[in-house]
Amino acid sequence: MSLGKIIDKKKNDLSERIDKQKVPEHVAIIMDGNGRWATKKGLPRSFGHNKGVNVLKEIIKASKKLGCKVLTVYAFSTENWSRPTKEVDYLLNLFAEVLKNEIEEIHEESIKIKFIGDLKPFPKSLKNIIYHSESLTKKNNTFLLNVCINYGGRQEIVKVAKELAFKSSSGEIKPSEVNEELFNSGLLTHGIKDPELLIRTSGEKRISNFLLWQVAYSEIYISDVLWPDFNEFEFLKAIIDYQSRNRRFGGIESLPNESFEDSQYSH
Ligand code: IPE
Ligand code: IPE
Ligand code: MG
Repeated sequence: MSLGKIIDKKKNDLSERIDKQKVPEHVAIIMDGNGRWATKKGLPRSFGHNKGVNVLKEIIKASKKLGCKVLTVYAFSTENWSRPTKEVDYLLNLFAEVLKNEIEEIHEESIKIKFIGDLKPFPKSLKNIIYHSESLTKKNNTFLLNVCINYGGRQEIVKVAKELAFKSSSGEIKPSEVNEELFNSGLLTHGIKDPELLIRTSGEKRISNFLLWQVAYSEIYISDVLWPDFNEFEFLKAIIDYQSRNRRFGGIESLPNESFEDSQYSH
């Protein structure tokens, strides 16, 4: 059997283990490990970022095919400005190039693309491509791709708090009206269901300021694979792992009433 056929067979075997009724609607991914992937190969970090783009394309296709409805990816954090200017510039150029080259296909695939984060500091040329891509695809409703750039979870929460504080001081709302629902409606992800599954590649076990509010009850899957080596097979592994989880949301797994013995704590 050729290598390609073996890989296809392994993928099919995994696909068969997936419960199509329990596919997460929204998957969020911290695409990490590009730099280390390149460095390991003795290449400049930019090679890792380039390869990472191809992986993202594969994962968009895979998640859509599986029946997911929303994919949110972390492409550039508010903290990533602290990298060397050359790397930051490279990334911003890459975003613009990829978007220019791929937007037609994204549109043909009926994918709606949205950028989440503070776009103000980006060059005008990048902002223009972003606005064009968002408006071109805004009516697509098969699949939503959220790309987080200059995104920070804390900054997002502060933004909402500030808006609510202004509304309250102007009398538009009463302080007592502030609740989770109102707060949620001010987030950049308003109207989008929270991710059921959060994947981080490269083995790092942290959130790095990603979707702090939204991942309150997400299942977390850490893959040791560096993002440029991630693929559909690894993605399916994450889905199978997710499907094996017992999501309790603070409750307990449907235990029969009589199994709760409060008398044992009464002495
Ligand atoms: C993730 O890969 C991509 C971005 C943050 C833009 P990294 O560039 O963080 O790669 P590592 O973590 O240094 O290997
Ligand atoms: C998180 O990765 C941001 C993105 C993937 C865009 P980082 O590589 O920036 O995070 P840290 O520095 O490991 O926390
Ligand atoms: Mg990293």
